[in-house]
Amino acid sequence: NHGSQGFRKVAHPSPMPDPERIELIRNPGFGRAFSDHMVTITWTADRGWHEMTIGPRGPLSLSPAAAVLHYAQEIFEGLKAYRTSSGEITLFRPDMNARRFALSAERLAMPALPDNLFIESVEALTSIDRAWIPDGEGSLYLRPFMIATEPFLGVRPAAEYLYVVIASAVGPYFSGGKSTITVWVSEDYTRAAKGGTGAAKCGGNYAASLTAQAVASAEGCDQVLFLDSAEHRWIEELGGMNIFLVFEDGSLQTPPIGGTILPGITRDSLIRLAREEGRVVREEPYAFDQLKADVASGRLREAFACGTAAVISPIGKLKTTDGPIVIGDGNAGEVSLALKRKLVGIQRGDVPDSFGWLH
Ligand code: COI
Repeated sequence: NHGSQGFRKVAHPSPMPDPERIELIRNPGFGRAFSDHMVTITWTADRGWHEMTIGPRGPLSLSPAAAVLHYAQEIFEGLKAYRTSSGEITLFRPDMNARRFALSAERLAMPALPDNLFIESVEALTSIDRAWIPDGEGSLYLRPFMIATEPFLGVRPAAEYLYVVIASAVGPYFSGGKSTITVWVSEDYTRAAKGGTGAAKCGGNYAASLTAQAVASAEGCDQVLFLDSAEHRWIEELGGMNIFLVFEDGSLQTPPIGGTILPGITRDSLIRLAREEGRVVREEPYAFDQLKADVASGRLREAFACGTAAVISPIGKLKTTDGPIVIGDGNAGEVSLALKRKLVGIQRGDVPDSFGWLH
């Protein structure tokens, strides 16, 4: 049943009328404007993956005892569909999302969805809801996720799961598409410990970041920066995106993948793009004290957050309990912006896709 027979299609009986949809996706913000359809696939221990359906998006019916509601057995992905200037529709490296979804499933003791089925599912939803892809700078954000649906309160891997894909027309993640973001450095909270779920894309990681994110918001910041849990010394990642630093010699540095950091697909793409340009990119630990010293000496020139939702969001300033740390001149840095132009250019078909990333 692994995708060969395709999806059972049920067209939406009353899709959103053109004028309403066009109005909604003109300035969609992030994650509020949902498309007409959704994909669902069921997994049971006896039948494996079955009931591949693409139909009207609507509420899910779940037992109040569904394991996901009690023990958070849930994973998700995020990827975007773009409309290129020649009118084609592209997905960016969906094979990477499929792989990571399978690894997240393994970490959360869930069944792996075969990569080809993951890709077929996002293709199918993108295709049926292609009218929801905004023109211009917006995109259609696809959100595949899997939940444990078995009604059972014992703590063990569930025996029933539901895989769902929804889609949302999106603009910039940060409201108004601001040119730089401000980041709060958390002293009280950490995101992930060695042996934990930091490398998996599971909802629990994001739930655990919310208190720290709320502190950041109260401090007037857009995101929170977490340091490592063991020594509280090394920069790890932001609440929902990876971090890069750019130095005066044009080199870049980002914390290494090692179990506590989400292996971002944007992160991976930027490492490759920067190396292709001849830049040195270090995937090495970077201490927060070093950051302060490098800002003071002028060696650190730029910093940016990156992710599917965030794309590249230059960091103008960090805030700590000891006061602000301005990065460079506080504005979006040249290297950050050039990398962003190249990445977005590839995604939208305006820059040659020399890595073969477009699908
Ligand atoms: C993404 O970038 O796709 C994420 O899942 C992160 C979240 C902050 C939206």
